[in-house]
This record gives sequence, structure tokens and C-alpha cells, in this order.
Amino acid sequence: MVSGYSGYSEELKSILENAKNEISNATDSKQLNDLRVKYLGKSGIVTSLMKKLKDLPPEERPNFGKVVNELKDEIEGLLEERKSQLMESEKQLLYKKLWVDPTMPGARRARGHLHIITKVQKELEDIFISMGFSVVEGPEIEQPWFNFDALNTPEWHPARDAHDSFYINDEYMLRTHTSPVQIRTMLSRKPPLAIVAPGRVYRRDYDATHLPMFTQMEGLYVDHDVTVKHLKYFLEEFARRLLGENTKVRLRPSYFPFTEPSFEVDIYFNNRWFEVLGAGMVHPNVFKNVGYDPEEWRGLAFGLGIERIAMVKYGVKDIRDLVRNDIRFLENW
Ligand code: PHE
Repeated sequence: MVSGYSGYSEELKSILENAKNEISNATDSKQLNDLRVKYLGKSGIVTSLMKKLKDLPPEERPNFGKVVNELKDEIEGLLEERKSQLMESEKQLLYKKLWVDPTMPGARRARGHLHIITKVQKELEDIFISMGFSVVEGPEIEQPWFNFDALNTPEWHPARDAHDSFYINDEYMLRTHTSPVQIRTMLSRKPPLAIVAPGRVYRRDYDATHLPMFTQMEGLYVDHDVTVKHLKYFLEEFARRLLGENTKVRLRPSYFPFTEPSFEVDIYFNNRWFEVLGAGMVHPNVFKNVGYDPEEWRGLAFGLGIERIAMVKYGVKDIRDLVRNDIRFLENW
């Protein structure tokens, strides 16, 4: 067969030729490894040539063995060479990726800040604290008695329908306003007292000026000679401190079951009137429900919408923007 052979037969030459081509075309180490298996693996092309050795006449075996070994070494060398080429270019790629420009400005860590609802709530707390009020809180999951009945709003009362919203069961509901905190406070403290109670409230509403969950701040001041004059004074004072000296406040007659008389309160700011709170003088029935003597005590109460005030102060058009959590919007303040 390969008698008198020295150098590669045609067969071996074409194997070598193919190997050279394939190896130089390999573009990653996976392909290269496949080629190693194809040529030098257990049942690879070169390995199976070796297995033919035993079928040859004895005198041809040494030479054949020698050339197949040379072929094997040569392919091995090609694989190694290609391997280091690929490693080098992968390294270069990595360097490119990791390359740092020391002249670039440093990466700045974005600092968060309080949401404007929280900011306005804190500002309001500070203002009322400075006027002698203390800050209290009540539960968001409330009993209808605190949310309605004790506030002179019995089961049959039409004002109740307008508020009836999220019930957990017959005994518990999400409070529709912060006014139940008036009741909880009066049940646990003796008059005189002055409190504000910020917190979340829930109603079945959703549009550009209403959210199903929003934030109120309740105010309650109970003493011997409290009148509407005091109410107007506190409202004007807080509006001026929060929005500026020239802010005007207007009281319009309104109706709440738990105050008498009752007012809708508007604030004039940036050439417009904004409706931001409800207020009034505590109804005698409310005092009776908490065991205060209505002959002895007078009270003023108000409930303001913190989102509304934030909208007025920061010029927000759509109340829903406050809860969309879009950083591009929130970053403005
Ligand atoms: N609780 C009323 C509301 O949410 C506001 C209010 C509070 C009115 C206190 C009068 C007194 O609409």
C-alpha cells in the first residue's frame, strides 16, 4: 500500500490541508475544541489512521507510524497556535470593554428625597405644632362606628352613601376620612385639646382630581370659648405660612353631619381659587357621643387634603401624577 513511503501520502496531505483550513477558520474555543475531537479524539481522523497500523506489512509500519505521528504533532501545533490567537483577541476585546477613561467625570450617585406629599405633610405638621397643636394618628382600617356613627352620621344618613366605599367585612372598613381620629382622641383625652392627625384615607373615586387613596390632615381644637373666628384665624395662618403672605382664604357655607355650621374652604393662590378643605364647629351630638358636655365645650375641626395642597403649591395639574412613581416627575422637587 504505502510502500517506500517517505513524506505524506495524498490522503494525509488532504487531511492536513482540511485541518489547516478548518482550524484557521475557527472563531472561538468551542469550535476549536470540536476540531480537536474531530482530528485527535478517540475516534478522530488521525487516531483512526493509527489504528490501521496493525493491518500493514511489518516493514511499512515504522514509516507509516512516523508520518502519522508527525501529522498528529502538526495538527496539535496548529490547534495550539490558533488557540493562543483566539485567546489574545478575546483578551483585547475584554480590555476594550473594560477600558476606563480616567479623564471622564466620576459617576454620581443619585440621591433620593422625600415625596412632595410627605414634604407638605411635614411642613403642615411643623406649622400646626408651632401653633400649639400636637400630632396624633389613628388606624386606616377603621370601624364604621368611628368613621360614621360617632360623627353624627347614622346608618340611614344620606351623607353616608356618598362615602361608603371599601369594606373588609361588616365590622371593618378603610376609613373614608381622618375625622374618626377626632373621636378616638376625644375618647382618650380630656379637653381642652388641640391635635392634627395626618394619614391615608380611601374612597371610591378616581379621576384627575380624585384618588381612591389619598392623604388628609384632620385638625381639632376643643376649648371653652372656641368660635368661627378661631377657625378662620388658624386656616389663614396655615395658608400664609405654607404658601406666602398674600394667600387668601374663603369660607363657603357647606354641610357635614359632624359640624354645625360647616364650611368648604378655598385658598386663593396664583390667581385661582382652590378647594382644599372642609371645616366647621364640632356638632353637639359628636361631643355627646364621646362624653363631653356640649354646654361646656366648643370645638373647631377641619380636614384638609394634602394632595390638593401639594397640587396648589407645586402647580401639579393631574393628581394621579403624584402616585405614578415616575422619577422624571418626582425629581422636579
Ligand atoms: N371629614 C371631612 C371630609 O373628609 C372634612 C371635614 C373635617 C369637615 C372636619 C369638617 C370638619 O370631607
